[in-house]
Amino acid sequence: MSVSNQPFLTCKVLMLFVVLTLFHYNASSKEPAKAIKISPDLFGIFFEDLSYAADGGLYAEMIQNRSFEYTPSDHSAWHSFTSWDFIKKGYGYGTISIETAHPIHSNNPHYVMLDIHEPFHDGIGLVNYGYDGISIKRGETYQLSVYFKSLLATPIEIMFTLRGKDNQELGTASFSVSSTAWKKYTAKIIATESFDDSRLELIAKTKGQLVIDMVSLFPEHTFKDRPNGLRADLAQVIADLHPKFMRFPGGCLVHGDGLGNIYRWKNTIDPVEERKTDRNIWNYHQSFGLGYFEYFQFCEDIGAKPLPVVAAGVSCQNSGGTWRIGGCGQKALSSEEMDDYIQEVLDLVEYANGPANSEWGSKRAKAGHPEPFNLVYMGIGNEDKITPEFEERYKLIADAVKKKYPNIIVVGTVGPFPDGEDYEKGWDIANKEKIEVVDEHMYKSPDWFWQHLHRYDNYDRNAAKVYIGEFAAHDTGRKNTFRSALSEAAFMTSLERNGDIVAMASYAPMLSNVKHQSWSPDLIYFNNTQILLTANYQVQKLFSNNQGDWYYPNVVELSAANTDSVKFSSSCVIDSETGDVIIKIVNGSDTDLTSLINLATFKKLENLANCSLLKGNPMDENTFEKPDVVYPEEFELSITKKISYKSPANSLTVIRIKKDK
Ligand code: AHR
Repeated sequence: MSVSNQPFLTCKVLMLFVVLTLFHYNASSKEPAKAIKISPDLFGIFFEDLSYAADGGLYAEMIQNRSFEYTPSDHSAWHSFTSWDFIKKGYGYGTISIETAHPIHSNNPHYVMLDIHEPFHDGIGLVNYGYDGISIKRGETYQLSVYFKSLLATPIEIMFTLRGKDNQELGTASFSVSSTAWKKYTAKIIATESFDDSRLELIAKTKGQLVIDMVSLFPEHTFKDRPNGLRADLAQVIADLHPKFMRFPGGCLVHGDGLGNIYRWKNTIDPVEERKTDRNIWNYHQSFGLGYFEYFQFCEDIGAKPLPVVAAGVSCQNSGGTWRIGGCGQKALSSEEMDDYIQEVLDLVEYANGPANSEWGSKRAKAGHPEPFNLVYMGIGNEDKITPEFEERYKLIADAVKKKYPNIIVVGTVGPFPDGEDYEKGWDIANKEKIEVVDEHMYKSPDWFWQHLHRYDNYDRNAAKVYIGEFAAHDTGRKNTFRSALSEAAFMTSLERNGDIVAMASYAPMLSNVKHQSWSPDLIYFNNTQILLTANYQVQKLFSNNQGDWYYPNVVELSAANTDSVKFSSSCVIDSETGDVIIKIVNGSDTDLTSLINLATFKKLENLANCSLLKGNPMDENTFEKPDVVYPEEFELSITKKISYKSPANSLTVIRIKKDK
């Protein structure tokens, strides 16, 4: 092999590690073989309301316990007044109570009654502390809404004030309430200062009896300015992944902590004041303000195919904390209950896809979306214990869906782990029932991912396709190390190589509020004002933004000198929409590695490629203090038919070569 050492690339940022050389390709090197058609929906996202991902997270509502529905069954110390305090100003006095006799809606039974005996001009009322404070920005507008009625038919003057730590006023709105029936009042509050930890005060200043419910404050600007919408900054970093699909609403949240806690989508689509709230399996509360309408809308807004997962008629096997005694807590709906449950699942398809004049399609239309949401995928079951009760119910639901909606692709489940009894039994059912796609979950060490780069090479190409619905490398201390992210990157190249049978994959979980973390590692951490994108996020983003639909084997080869005991993996795909060739090279070793890239197969490529490089130390982590420790550098690479590329130790390189048009 004769090698010219003359560097000839133009690097924007990076020069040091890229040694690009022309060479005569070794005659013994394999020519790229025939391309393999791979899934066009390979990389997507997993959303579960876990670690305050929805309420107190992506859902932009700023008032915690807005409808006074918190109870000890959500969380042992919680009650209707959690996150609220009764306040008396000056010499004002009166009483406060929780009532249930005449609610706005029976699904939302609790509300507050304020009996203002003597306001003394200053009044009495309530204060809400939001989710760890209410974070506002100077000059921004906030949308306030609240339901009131004045029981004695006397007009009652109400003042809302956003206040800071030293009691300073940060924005106000006022109402005169004379309605004797429940009525929604709305106003805008403009913040006069920025404050991360403000609170919202509601003061009644007139003698009388006032009932109050659904006290709500949203930033006026939500993601895509949707009403009842999502936190714009968080939604944007999710959108930046350009996921091909979004799985929701979980995770374990779907099959629930006992039968009464199974996620019921119909409870989540009516106007928010009529949604029936529930406890969250992760030990807090679900307002369902982010419900099925908002999930579908978000999928559409970010160009992701919706992948709702419904329970398979059984609850989580760990219900009641029985994971401590082997996970024997699975409960099954009775056969009488199954008929209604199956209908509920069928109705979900109609809700998403049915015409605007169908029973359930009309509810979608009424909520503001007459066009269908184009549902294609539906998951049935989430990593359930594979019992006869599960199997029977799964089959009833799946058969009914396929019978009524043959075009819906049903995703089954093969238990919580990537091997073992449930996995085996789940696959037996998949083979017997000819399930189209099954959901495998894997939370394993970084080494496990490196050791399983060939896991799917020998999977039966005629059996079910695989959706890796939850995966993440769990490093020591379950930290988001660069080492964990690189092992995921290596594994993802193997998913591309096997993209003919691996239909989809999603890292899990995606979101975590750092003050309420139930699980780690996660992809994205946040508090009220900051967002932390992990090294794992950077990897997911590079793969997700550089997906292809054809895989080309043997394009990248590790040079002979380097082939022993190194951690190395690569892939080459084409995105047929753009014609771009995309190469990914993962070097998990502590030394630089040279690989040979043979582009002879590809005609008409531009001669400069856009490249992204993530590199660092294996134990590097992004933190709120240092968020960009692991962050991609961009550079350009000159392209010839055959090139060599030196990937730095511990790195991921993505080389995107445009088709010359
Ligand atoms: O992703 C976190 C949890 O892990 C999911 O809820 C569950 O499906 C899995 O066990």
